[in-house]
Amino acid sequence: MSGNTLQKAIELVTKATEEDKKKNYEEALKLYQHAVEYFLHAIKYEAQSDRAKESIRGKCIQYLDRAEKLKTYLGKGSKPKPVKAGGGGSGNNKKESDDSSDEEKDPDKKKFEGALSESILMETPNIQWDDVAGLDGAKEALKEAVILPVKFPHLFTGKRKPWRGILLYGPPGTGKTYLAKAVATEANNSNFFSVSSASLVSKWLGESEKLVKTLFSMARDKKPSIIFIDEVDALCGSRSENESESARRIKTEFLVQMQGVGNDSDGVLVLGATNIPWVLDSAIRRRFEKRIYIPLPEATARVGMFKLSLGATPHSLTEEDFKDLGQRSDSYSGADINIVVRDALMQPVRKVQTATHFRKVRGPSRTDPDVIVDDLLTPCSPGAPGAIEMNWTQVEGDKLLEPVVSMTDMLMSLSTQKPTVNDDDLKKLEDFTDDFGQEG
Ligand SMILES: Nc1ncnc2c1ncn2[C@@H]1O[C@H](COP(=O)(O)OP(=O)(O)OP(=O)(O)O)[C@@H](O)[C@H]1O
Ligand SMILES: [Mg+2]
Repeated sequence: MSGNTLQKAIELVTKATEEDKKKNYEEALKLYQHAVEYFLHAIKYEAQSDRAKESIRGKCIQYLDRAEKLKTYLGKGSKPKPVKAGGGGSGNNKKESDDSSDEEKDPDKKKFEGALSESILMETPNIQWDDVAGLDGAKEALKEAVILPVKFPHLFTGKRKPWRGILLYGPPGTGKTYLAKAVATEANNSNFFSVSSASLVSKWLGESEKLVKTLFSMARDKKPSIIFIDEVDALCGSRSENESESARRIKTEFLVQMQGVGNDSDGVLVLGATNIPWVLDSAIRRRFEKRIYIPLPEATARVGMFKLSLGATPHSLTEEDFKDLGQRSDSYSGADINIVVRDALMQPVRKVQTATHFRKVRGPSRTDPDVIVDDLLTPCSPGAPGAIEMNWTQVEGDKLLEPVVSMTDMLMSLSTQKPTVNDDDLKKLEDFTDDFGQEG
């Protein structure tokens, strides 16, 4: 995966500041908003280091602040802009709406479509079914709901209808989001709308229920399509007395759109993911007709995850070692295993840092891999034959031969990295499965 989205975001922001300087505030506002959406997308779908993510987030806050200021400025400025407060629209902006009453509908819809088009997954993430270890049941259900109806429409006529709503739930880090990305990749003739709850309740748009409405109408226009809502619990928690008016409106809109009178939602699949399914509103839960439990991986799936996480990194692990790791990592999630492996990958670096002795070894030269040289240095114990007392600062940059990742490294990381999912959470998820779900 490349940094395309990030690049695009930076371009947009550069343009935004230019327009801002030229006092084209309306244009600048739009560009800032687009840029932020791209940044958020980049954080979510493109591998970034934690520090990079942190700094992108900081920047986003700045841009949003500026956008907010521009928005208030434009709202108060001489040129009236139809930004209606959600719902009724109060008396004091009557004069404004008089001027623009007939245009009001259209720019509004455009505005939301514009905002949404940025939340939609633009580039397919390129994750195949095979990149997801285990979870065969879930994969089958998704194929049944997504691939087959498009490929063989005649199979799904009359009473046999494809699923309209699928909920993936399970402990954190078990691959729910990952699986949805695989769906996006594999269902390449459906339009994939990926929205996070956060972008639907975004602070500068305010009128979230209209966003929900626009989202669904766009999906219907472009069917077959899939709407993926990650962390759906943030949007559709159970309705209660003390929640905010806007949260309630979002939920209601959701219920109407997912299965409302007069809404023909053929060809639109809503895919949701959550790790706290029990907070979902019961009416929303019903609209997710199929609820698939994505459990912690089995031993064989864990073996697959160790291999996937290691990728092409040089290592000295045998097939037996992998099996052993699979056995030892009971109750680790996919994400946990990913971290164990990443930590193990760092062990060779640590060995270099802490070594007090190095010895000379043969190996391919750094500058020209075809040439074999004799004077590479690798960390060793003080008693090893040929050990020279020195530390890493004395090793020249192109003379270092780092040790490959070994089973010992893996075991060491495994013992220091504990699994993140606790029994309480699992218990709750299992109870939910007994009541409402099915195994993935
Ligand atoms: N079944 C799997 N196969 C391969 N990799 C996996 C699998 N499950 C998890 N992973 C790894 O763990 C990472 C995190 O997974 P993902 O983001 O899908 O978790 P999640 O279930 O959405 O968690 P959360 O509920 O916290 O959002 C993935 O990027 C992937 O590298
Ligand atoms: Mg997720």
